[in-house]
Amino acid sequence: MTDDAGFGVYVHWPYCAAICPYCDFNVRRDRGGDHEDLLRAIVADIEEHARRIARRPAQTLFLGGGTPSLLSARGVATLIEAVDAAFGLEAGAEISLEANPEHAAMFAELVSAGVNRLSLGVQALRQKDLQTLGRRHSAIEARAAIEAAAHTGARVAADFIYALDGQTEAEWADALDEILRLPIAHASFYQLTVEAGTPFARAVARGRMHALDVERAARLYELTQAKTIDAGLPAYEISNHARPESERARHNLLYWRGGDWLGVGPGAHGRIAVDGARFATRAHADPKAYVRAVAEEGIGWAEQERLSGPAQGEEWLMMGLRLAEGVDRRRIECARGARFNADVLEALVAQELLYTDEHRLVLTPAGRLLADRIARDLLLG
Ligand SMILES: C[S@@+](CC[C@H](N)C(=O)[O-])C[C@H]1O[C@@H](n2cnc3c(N)ncnc32)[C@H](O)[C@@H]1O
Ligand code: SF4
Repeated sequence: MTDDAGFGVYVHWPYCAAICPYCDFNVRRDRGGDHEDLLRAIVADIEEHARRIARRPAQTLFLGGGTPSLLSARGVATLIEAVDAAFGLEAGAEISLEANPEHAAMFAELVSAGVNRLSLGVQALRQKDLQTLGRRHSAIEARAAIEAAAHTGARVAADFIYALDGQTEAEWADALDEILRLPIAHASFYQLTVEAGTPFARAVARGRMHALDVERAARLYELTQAKTIDAGLPAYEISNHARPESERARHNLLYWRGGDWLGVGPGAHGRIAVDGARFATRAHADPKAYVRAVAEEGIGWAEQERLSGPAQGEEWLMMGLRLAEGVDRRRIECARGARFNADVLEALVAQELLYTDEHRLVLTPAGRLLADRIARDLLLG
């Protein structure tokens, strides 16, 4: 069952030139080492996994971070070759790399090394917003990076963060108009989340910054939906927009559709089916601990937990409801060993938050705004 949605590999490269004040990903400040030990450990980890789990051709490889565009093109080629040798990358496999705009001069080399999709961390096109976010690139560099990426012939995606402190609807509408004129066929629009433990969370606690209120967040989200639909870049997931369909992120679709992926590199998560059982895995977060684990145990996982049927069903629901296409209702009911509560379904349909038939559960645009709450109602019902 889990095989239906495919198989991919996620590689986490944790180093960044500087740590952004809103970021709570598993990141480490790059202090200039060559990190050859980490690169070698990731390759060894990939090779050992291929020996331990059945060899399955991969449809996707995602090099994420952190900042994998800090890797040399040779380092990127080494990782791609390792995955290909260990699992076999399917013809036409999607090979994505998260690139920061200040590394635009590297893009052509990264594409020559085998990357065919560049996912750019643009975040904003206004200098003021980039400063608020503590980014290293300028608005001019952001635009130049998009042009440079488009010239490589690779697919180009760009990430943006909105709902910054003080950002008005009019400002976001103008920014969106500008973004929607860019030569990109995939855009991710994330509302700023003030993550615990970050400098932004401390600024909010001291009253120097304001976190977004729910109503304003909803208005900005609705504005984003309306403008992207008008521009022909509709959402296929809560925060992700693409046109045509072939531009959708195939790797991320694996996550949302309940597929399998091997997660390697410090702190990487994965989901792997072995002999009919499905496991949630997490690699050691600290790069040194990860390198040591690979040397001593062959693989870098710190945890692997066998997922029960209900736990799988819950995860498929939480992830799949994010998609405009919705989720396979029967697959989740089978995994949970229980039908969804008919009264809860009926109430959600009556509130125009959900469509359903025997086969699928699909959130309406209004429902997608409340996806987590609706998933909880369905699970508790
Ligand atoms: C793993 S990050 C790394 C990508 C790359 N290093 C960069 O910063 O551009 C992936 C995306 O998550 C989004 N993101 C990270 N932290 C966020 C936060 N606190 N709130 C909203 N979006 C966030 C950003 O849009 C970012 O491009
Ligand atoms: S947002 Fe990107 S560049 Fe900034 S610290 Fe996080 S992963 Fe690194």
